[in-house]
This record gives sequence, C-alpha cells and structure tokens, in this order.
Amino acid sequence: MVINRVVSFLSLMGAMFTISSAFATEIEVLHWWTSGGEARSAELLQQGIESRGHIWKDFSVAGGGGQSAMMVLKARAVSGNPPTSAQIKGFDIQEWTKLGFLTSLDDIAIEGNWDSLLPKTISDTMKYEGRYVAAPVNIHRVNWLWVNPKVMEKVGVSIPRTWDEFFIAADAIKAAGYIPLAHGRQPWQDATVFESIALAMLGADDYYKAFVALDLDVLSGEKMVQVFSAFKKVRGYIDGDALGRDWNVATQMVMNGEAAMQIMGDWVKGELTVAGKVSGEDYVCVPAPGTDGMFSYNVDSFVFFKSHDPSRGQGQKELAKTIMSKSFQEAFNYSKGSLPARTDVSMARFDDCAFQSKTAFTMAEGSKNLLPSLSADMSTTSYIRDAMIDVISEFFTDEAADPNKAPERLAKAVKAAL
Ligand code: GAL
Repeated sequence: MVINRVVSFLSLMGAMFTISSAFATEIEVLHWWTSGGEARSAELLQQGIESRGHIWKDFSVAGGGGQSAMMVLKARAVSGNPPTSAQIKGFDIQEWTKLGFLTSLDDIAIEGNWDSLLPKTISDTMKYEGRYVAAPVNIHRVNWLWVNPKVMEKVGVSIPRTWDEFFIAADAIKAAGYIPLAHGRQPWQDATVFESIALAMLGADDYYKAFVALDLDVLSGEKMVQVFSAFKKVRGYIDGDALGRDWNVATQMVMNGEAAMQIMGDWVKGELTVAGKVSGEDYVCVPAPGTDGMFSYNVDSFVFFKSHDPSRGQGQKELAKTIMSKSFQEAFNYSKGSLPARTDVSMARFDDCAFQSKTAFTMAEGSKNLLPSLSADMSTTSYIRDAMIDVISEFFTDEAADPNKAPERLAKAVKAAL
C-alpha cells in the first residue's frame, strides 16, 4: 500500500517535471547590479522569472554605470553568442537596433498596452522607428544630494540648497574633521557631480543645448567656465583616497558618518534601504544644490537579442512581461530607489524621497525641466558621451587644470566625435 502510494507520488512528480521542463527555458540576463541594494533588486527579477517556471542564468558584470558590462556584452555579441537579454539604456538601444541585433517587442507591447502605461518620454526612449525594442524597469533621478543629518547637526550647518550654501557648509564640515563630499573618482561618477553643477549653473535650456543638442557655442561658452570653476572647487572637499572608489563605498561613508554628503542618483537609496536606513532619520534626500524642480532622468531597460531558437523567443516574451508587470514594478522600484516606469503602480509603501521624485517628475514632464542625464548615458550617443566624460574626468584629475580652457576642450572633443 505504502509502496503503491510512493510509486504514484513519484510518477506524478515525474509527470510534473516533464511538463514544466517542456516549457522551462534558460534565460541569461546581463546586468551590472552587483552592489547590495542593486543585487537585492536583481534577485526580484530572478524570482519573477523563476515563478513563471523558467531558469535564470545570471550574467552580472560588476562596475557602477555599466561601462564594463557594455564591453563584455560587445565581445559576446560580436562572437555571435549574445545573452538572451541585456540591460541597455538610452541611445545605445537605438545603436544596437540599427546594427540588427535586437528583436522587436511590439506584439507584447501592443497586447500589454504599453503606450498608455508609460510616460511618453520613457516610451519614446524604448522605441526604434516607432516600434518597441526595449522594456523599461524604472525611472531614476540623478540630481540628488544625500545627506547624513547627524553630521550636519554636529557641525551646526544646514543642508545646502544652492552651490554658495554648499561651499559654506563644506568649509565648516571640513574644519570639523569630516569629509564634506563622499565621492569615488571614476569617470562616470565625476560626470555625475559635473552634471548636477551644470544643471544648476547653465539652467535647463542651456543644459539641453549643451548635452543633448550639442551646441558648440554653449559647450565652449562663458557659463561653462563657471561650471568648470565650481567643479574644480568641489575637488577640495573630497578625501585623498577617492580614486577608483565605487559609488556604493562612498554611500557607506555617508551612512557611517565619515562623510556628510554624496551627489549621486537614487540607486543610493537602494543601498540605504538594504542597510535598514530610514529616510528622514538616518539620511535626508534633497535635490542637488540649485536644481530644485529639475529632473535629470536615467531609465534602466532591457533589450532582447535575436535568436533562431523558438524557446529563447518564448523566454524573452516572459521576461518582458515580467518586467512590465505591476507587481514587479512595485517591488523592484521600492527596493532599487527608483520610480516605477509604469504610471499606474501603487506607491503606498514608498518613502518621502520617492514622493519628492514622483512630484518632481510629474511637474517637470512636458516641460524643459525634464532632462536626460549625461552621466547615465541618456542624453547622447555613448561615443559622444565618452568623449565629453574624458574631458570632464581629466579636468577633475589634473589639479592644475584651467577652468577657462576646459570648455573649449569640451567643445572640441564633441566636434571631433560628431
Ligand atoms: C546606472 C544604472 C543604475 C545604477 C547605477 C550604478 O547606470 O542605471 O540602475 O545601478 O548605474 O550602478
């Protein structure tokens, strides 16, 4: 009797295994979410895939900003062996489509009504010649200042809202023996700080002209001298060990009170959340100095590589559907520090930083204040962006660099890359 039951249980399991394995497909996903908060968020995507009966194959390449991941991806794609899917953003989506690597998502997008679920700025970025080729996970705001309020209190300074206030506070923080600005000297992080200064000092119109329209007069102009001058000044408020430091290590410094502030996108909040820190108590988020009302955006998205294998195609559809599902967008963005890309997701459990971000996005949308981030690869092609970031980062590295000459160099680098 017992043996009979065991036999029928085993054959039932066998049948279930055959059914699920007939549909189960391995989905290899390239991404660069390897810090504590990022990895926790990537796990949610993995769980989403596994709950649909598929097998997640992790292809993570460490390195904030994703430059290393993109290099590895190019090597794999060129050798004819791309992963099922990859995290690719902004203009790179167009480039990869033009080269013929990507599969269209239009059938799923039409079926899922993506056009009505996404803000137009976001859906436009996901399309090539009017057709969806990428699925968006989130909307990150880049122009944030993360503050340790206890350090500010001990020093007796208030949170700076303008660059003048920033330098006054930074002097006092430095004199009290703390590091005013936690920073990692990697080119994309240098560009993140530069971008926030540029937003404040150029204003929305000229930021757009410089970094989106690539207007050489604005790039080489007088206001850009001011941007580089302030950028040079900021260098005096970071510590001597910043070279090569990862962004999340800089976040740790703010968390543990070694440093007072960090300028970085809201993936920082993912890091703070995973460490159990609470907004308004352990840390405070405010727009980067002088950028109130402005929103420089960074949208993470996934693309899908063409394949002759039908099971791969099926897996890609499942991944795209998971990414765009309401439940995934809610859970993922709560963990990642970003806003859901879908506009109809409940934000009930989100914190005040997310609400600030949502309000700023809604107010900026449709106006000149919603701007694609230069440092996060959203404002122009990666080729031109890299040319600009080289100039920006070399300037930051060279203590003797002249802010009067840097704008001319920036414009020349863009002109040569056009
Ligand atoms: C960005 C990415 C974010 C964040 C950051 C640091 O490029 O869009 O999601 O994780 O890099 O790694």
